[in-house]
Amino acid sequence: MITVSHLSKSYGRRTVVDDLSFELVAGRITGFVGPNGAGKSTTMRMMVGLARPDAGRVTYDGATFAELAHPARTIGAVLDARAMHPGRSARNHLRAIAALGSLPSGRVDEVLHTVGLDDAGGQRVGGFSLGMRQRLAIAGALLGDPHILMLDEPANGLDPDGIRWLRTMLTDFATAGGTVFVSSHFIAELATFADDLVVVGNGRLITAEPLVRTLERDPGRTLEDIVLDLTRHTARHTAA
Ligand SMILES: Nc1ncnc2c1ncn2[C@@H]1O[C@H](COP(=O)(O)OP(=O)(O)O)[C@@H](O)[C@H]1O
Ligand SMILES: [Mg+2]
Repeated sequence: MITVSHLSKSYGRRTVVDDLSFELVAGRITGFVGPNGAGKSTTMRMMVGLARPDAGRVTYDGATFAELAHPARTIGAVLDARAMHPGRSARNHLRAIAALGSLPSGRVDEVLHTVGLDDAGGQRVGGFSLGMRQRLAIAGALLGDPHILMLDEPANGLDPDGIRWLRTMLTDFATAGGTVFVSSHFIAELATFADDLVVVGNGRLITAEPLVRTLERDPGRTLEDIVLDLTRHTARHTAA
């Protein structure tokens, strides 16, 4: 169980995450939605120690991220698929991550296969499409064979085949007992495979519940319509 408890974060005078609490359950896929600037990426960054909360905490079966004995073997995160050295080959990119996380380099070819990049291992990342970078970034997150996957907008840049692959991969991961936390702007797509849904606006929690409960809020309407209604008054039209 992952518990996000009263998390808050301000940049300057602006509160971007505001007393946010929710839980992630093993074996389930939790979707994370809300308008641009709602604080989703900031929340995810705080969950893995990349941003420091002003208040609140995140625990993994009771332990904070900093207390995890093997973070790379516990949680795999993709927060920015564009953050890759363009001159490196895909395989060398993964070898570097493996070395940093004290993970066996033998995993590199396995995860390249898992994400469908078997033939691209020797190619420079600089020549990759955004979709290929998303796959490679997910490969990096899988290196430590973690039981938690956290992906920030992984569907961005994926073609229809890639989106289907992502859905299958996440579903298999959760079916095997893993915990998945995935943000997405593609609410209709998320509705096809998420079990739980966390909706935020202006850094605040709007709902956190099984997706079927959210759908029951307005029977007959699509999840997309319901979420847009829930968040309409919070939309801020920022460039985030
Ligand atoms: N490092 C930062 N410094 C200042 N403002 C930031 C920083 N990171 C995010 N923000 C601001 O925090 C708000 C929430 O951003 P973000 O967490 O990226 O939202 P989302 O992922 O939901 O679109 C935005 O207004 C964004 O501009
Ligand atoms: Mg974001």
